[in-house]
Amino acid sequence: MSRLKDKVAVITGSGMGLGQAMGLLFSREGAKIVVSDINTAAGEETVGAIRLEGGDAIFVRADVSVAEDAERMIAAAVDSYGCVNVLVNNAGVQVEKNVPDTTEEEWDYVLGVNLKGPFLCSRAAIPQMRRRGGGSIICISSISGLVGQPNQASYNASKHGVIGLVRTMACDHAQEGIRVNAICPGSMNTPMAANIPEEHLAPYRKANLFERFAEPMEVAYSALFLASDESSYVTGSVMTVDGGYTTK
Ligand SMILES: NC(=O)c1ccc[n+]([C@@H]2O[C@H](COP(=O)([O-])OP(=O)(O)OC[C@H]3O[C@@H](n4cnc5c(N)ncnc54)[C@H](O)[C@@H]3O)[C@@H](O)[C@H]2O)c1
Repeated sequence: MSRLKDKVAVITGSGMGLGQAMGLLFSREGAKIVVSDINTAAGEETVGAIRLEGGDAIFVRADVSVAEDAERMIAAAVDSYGCVNVLVNNAGVQVEKNVPDTTEEEWDYVLGVNLKGPFLCSRAAIPQMRRRGGGSIICISSISGLVGQPNQASYNASKHGVIGLVRTMACDHAQEGIRVNAICPGSMNTPMAANIPEEHLAPYRKANLFERFAEPMEVAYSALFLASDESSYVTGSVMTVDGGYTTK
């Protein structure tokens, strides 16, 4: 189990859900993990779970939408482990509304976490990756970054934006050895989905070819590939892990 041996991975929003699954999986593959989240109790829980399995992890409380927090998170990774090899921009929030119903505050909140967050965290991490001759940035977009869906105005805009950001960062930093890729999961069994009423979820359950939601670990494995050197020729890619949702 050494696909990420000696790598340092910073994972935002890793207190629960997909972020936690990636933290556990990356640790099992030999990475040192910087667990970061706005929720301290959740983040500490992930660190505890990693250490229980014999892994090495620290927690840094950071709001990805705040520049100083993003800078502090990356600085803490460098202070503790010497470098940053992998950044996963995973933290995300959702407001289920169409444009007329969305308040300006809701729009700014969703875009702030989902799109400005990856910008700020990548901006903080890229100089550190450059210093070491490269790295891997993975941004968690969504099927909502690929297609239109009802009542997802701010969320879909943010997730489409993430793909644009990934593609342009891939162009800008390939020559520095920094690879940048997006993952577009379909619906997953995480606390995010658990907070949505079942009548809103039901159509999505039937809309993929397996007629079920993904377990977060099923998506985490695709991130493991993109984080590892196995994906050395992969950059600017948009990987759907959606049970065929966008194929139908
Ligand atoms: N759950 C799904 O069905 C689904 C589908 C496609 C894509 N996604 C995306 O996958 C990613 C992970 O989603 P999840 O389902 O695990 O979500 P989740 O709500 O279960 O977990 C998200 C984590 O992000 C943290 N967070 C929220 N705001 C933050 C902020 N400002 N700064 C730092 N951390 C913050 C939360 O505290 C939480 O620990 C998100 O980007 C989400 O948009 C989720």
